[in-house]
Amino acid sequence: MKNLLHAASVSLAVAMLLLAGLGSTQAQPVGTDTGPGQAAVASAHYLATEAGQEIMAAGGNAFDAAVAISAALAVVEPASSGLGGGGFWLLHRASDKLRVMVDGREVAPLAATADMFLDANGEVNRELAVNGPLAAGIPGHIAAIAHIAEKYGQLTLARNLQPAIRLATQGFPVDEKYHALMRYRAEVIRRWPAASKTLLVAGEVPELGTMIKQPDLARTLQMVATQGRDAFYRGEFAQHLVAGVRAAGGIWTEADLAAYAIKERVPISFSYQGRQIVTAPPPSSGGVALAEILNIIEPYSIGSMDRTVQVHLLTEAMRRAYRDRGIYLGDPEFVDMPIRQLISRDYAAGLRASIRLDRATDSDALAGFQDSPKGMDTTHFSVLDKDGNMVAATLTVNLPYGSAFMAPDTGFLLNNEMDDFSAKPGAPNAFGLLGFTANAIAPGKRMLSSMTPSFVFGDDRQAALGTPGGSRIITMVLLGILDMIAGNEPQSWVSLPRFHHQYRPDLISIEPDAFSPELISQLQAMGHTVEARDSTWGNMHGVLWKYADNQVSAASDPRWPSGRAVVKPAAD
Ligand code: GLY
Repeated sequence: MKNLLHAASVSLAVAMLLLAGLGSTQAQPVGTDTGPGQAAVASAHYLATEAGQEIMAAGGNAFDAAVAISAALAVVEPASSGLGGGGFWLLHRASDKLRVMVDGREVAPLAATADMFLDANGEVNRELAVNGPLAAGIPGHIAAIAHIAEKYGQLTLARNLQPAIRLATQGFPVDEKYHALMRYRAEVIRRWPAASKTLLVAGEVPELGTMIKQPDLARTLQMVATQGRDAFYRGEFAQHLVAGVRAAGGIWTEADLAAYAIKERVPISFSYQGRQIVTAPPPSSGGVALAEILNIIEPYSIGSMDRTVQVHLLTEAMRRAYRDRGIYLGDPEFVDMPIRQLISRDYAAGLRASIRLDRATDSDALAGFQDSPKGMDTTHFSVLDKDGNMVAATLTVNLPYGSAFMAPDTGFLLNNEMDDFSAKPGAPNAFGLLGFTANAIAPGKRMLSSMTPSFVFGDDRQAALGTPGGSRIITMVLLGILDMIAGNEPQSWVSLPRFHHQYRPDLISIEPDAFSPELISQLQAMGHTVEARDSTWGNMHGVLWKYADNQVSAASDPRWPSGRAVVKPAAD
């Protein structure tokens, strides 16, 4: 790649974290120097899982597979991620135990202003914040996968993109998720001719099984395969993309695309009951919140507790972590954050002291600000290769089908990630997210995310997991990690009934039938409000390698049928 230096800059914030001793890309030994000799992929779509397997069978490693899977998901799961979006790719390189997060998060355009979504009365214009090109941040997907292929892969970017180009050219059948989420977004997709032509059939939501071919997307992917990432961010294609955005009311300039750079970030890394958790640092809120919650509960034998007390304690820990998320976290290049304090055991001890084991805390009784659900659609995949390299990647366009805007001839939807910023202090976003200063809009700034791709390492095993689900991502990953540490297999982590508390609104939200009527009554008696949702959430995909018997397992969330987890001997 010609402009690698331009594409990848190790941020000042990372350097400061290293100086502060918060983490290291040189992590602890994992207990084995030989790989499993088997490869595992779990993703939200069987065609993306097959793309990853194809690339590893062709000699690629987990990082090549991650590039192929990311590109394939962009084709077959356009509701959830794509070339017009971004994500976080957490990497573990077995040879030297390097752990790093490639941050391909979108950034606000240079012409963005803190009040760009406010109307003449100072109210947030929700329409502009979520629909159409003004809602779109500058995408990082292509920059990130090109960087991963160049720096960590064994195959070329062009080879890794082949399965996605083939899928875009030959088409893929509409599945339940495409269909269900398109019913929700079709009205907005119809406003933009390129999007409508590509993703609808004669302006209507396609039936299950309809083949969706994307020749424009195939051409864009082929251009990147042939000419590299700069063909996307500079020159003729960038001019055309910017012209399309501006013609539809957007504010992007060619300078925005030319300036886009991924960041390599040091993960948040901490120990919990003898395991090492490696997870997403800011601009994700996930790693900090996970560390806070696990530090708070660590002294308790959470696995053997009475179920009511267990749910209560987890809820109280979630409540406190989400409060801090709202107050403190944002883009590390723009916001000073007390990360060292937030993830320290001393700080957790103070928070723990404020928890009664028999009574819910009122969120109003905790000083601070508030937060609530965000981001409804996103995707996650986990990969382990024969040598023990791993990738956990969570990618997004924010709402299902992002902003629904597609510039003519480009083939991909733009994200509506600008809605992950707070458009106005105290004003809720599409999912009730209330604003705060640390996450205010500013030119070139990354919007706060909840995406939490994570690894767990122990003396006897290593694992990768993650999920989409907006602000619920963090608590899903938490429950998955606790289940893993309890000794259960990936099929159990991804299937667990889910519950969630995030400080505001002050309630425990549960999946249908997640709690028994007795458990709900007992929690209510302690002062909790319990709200059963009418649908499930999340789409978790995990892989596990146990060293002792060299057992590799993988699982995809049963909530969405297109997910696929496969373990194969390396030779297959
Ligand atoms: N857009 C969802 C997230 O990044 O949290």
